[in-house]
Amino acid sequence: QAHPMVRERCQDLILDNDTLKKIGDIFLDNINRGLKKATHEKSIVKCFPTYVQDLPDGTETGKFLALDLGGTNFRVLLIELSGEHFEMKSKIFAIPQHIMLGSGEQLFDHIAECLAIFVKEEQVQHETLPLGFTFSFPLSQKGLTKGILQRWTKGFNCSNVVGNDVVQMLNEAIERRGDVQIDVMAVLNDSTGTLMSCAWLNRNCRIGIIIGTGSNGCYVEKQENAELFNDVDMGSGKVIINMENGAFGDDGCIDFIRTEYDREVDKHSINPGKQVQEKMISGMYMGELVRLVLEKFTKEGLLFGGKGSDLLFERGRFYTKYVSEIESDEPGIFTNQREILEELGLKHATEQDYVNVRFICECVSRRAAHLASTTIVTLLHKMDEKKVTIGVDGSVYRYHPHFHNLMTEKIGELCDPSIQFDLMLSEDGSGRGAALVAAVAARQKKNAL
Ligand code: BG6
Ligand code: GLC
Repeated sequence: QAHPMVRERCQDLILDNDTLKKIGDIFLDNINRGLKKATHEKSIVKCFPTYVQDLPDGTETGKFLALDLGGTNFRVLLIELSGEHFEMKSKIFAIPQHIMLGSGEQLFDHIAECLAIFVKEEQVQHETLPLGFTFSFPLSQKGLTKGILQRWTKGFNCSNVVGNDVVQMLNEAIERRGDVQIDVMAVLNDSTGTLMSCAWLNRNCRIGIIIGTGSNGCYVEKQENAELFNDVDMGSGKVIINMENGAFGDDGCIDFIRTEYDREVDKHSINPGKQVQEKMISGMYMGELVRLVLEKFTKEGLLFGGKGSDLLFERGRFYTKYVSEIESDEPGIFTNQREILEELGLKHATEQDYVNVRFICECVSRRAAHLASTTIVTLLHKMDEKKVTIGVDGSVYRYHPHFHNLMTEKIGELCDPSIQFDLMLSEDGSGRGAALVAAVAARQKKNAL
């Protein structure tokens, strides 16, 4: 058992069900304000209509390209859909730090270059293929192929992109090169890609959730509730809403659950004051949250006999994957943890330290899982459907050994028992989802002709 003092000092990282329900109520109010024309502008949770109105029906066919930017990896993909089957080839390209923080033009030139390399390798450079662009940042969409960047999130901060249409910037970069032709059919968020990808396999899928580098969600809303989308008629009477709920809390509405560690993480991030909920949930920040607790407790003498190490006290040096690895150790056995602590120069850790460190990791990851669950329960209650599958992707959900179970359990506790739900891991990332959105759009375009 973790030391009583450690348990006591971790109390502020534990959210009980009443608190989660309260957060859920505030969140619902945030969603509704985002959806309404009169309040959208001022709303923190934006609820952007994505212009994606139809889920896949399984008849999508053809060859598509996709770009997938904004998660751990930047990928270019070639996807072939034919009824029940699909084939996918992809290549990961690096986005160096100087490009993530450079100019927008440089970023899009880099993307276009990677695309050109890929289509040449795959020998499709002479075909004008439809492309789906997964761009995992907040876009205010004016159409399926028009998305204005509202703000950068996660580790990106390129100049001269906010306020601009990223599809146009991509097209211009491709034109500047002049060696490839593509037809951008859609720009979409990774949560939308995840929803589409899972809906292709499971027709009950109505929600897409990302718990990765960042965190976000989207869901299928009735068109009449999406006031910003009211003038755009036709289609299914539904539209996927990209909530951009990583920003939940930016106005202080969940300050009552934030800890000193959350404030510290925020203060040293590249976007202070922004993406408050994301910073409590997602992979870009989880390891650092744990590190800050460890640092503080060490300095107070609660851990490692009061003796830390340079690496433990170095910002960003405790990776989120450590949290997953530490919690993957069987209870009472500390193989992964021993290795990690030794790597951090904490050879002198005792058995009691191991138990304490694991407890701290659990508090931070459990809180993240519970907050993500609250988001989902709020949607399930709002959507008025009896059976909903939730497509989930992202490195935290994928690699943390207990995240799925923690979420399933907490959603079960908080959700109206008449609603059946299940959490489905998206196996193929957002790439297939991007191809599907492009395919659905291509079908609609053909139908309209
Ligand atoms: C992937 C998607 O599967 O999940 C990405 O293809 C997405 O586009 C990602 O951003 C989220 O996870 P992470 O952990 O890579 O940020
Ligand atoms: C950030 C982005 C959002 C994305 C999420 C997960 O919150 O703003 O668009 O979906 O990260 O990648």
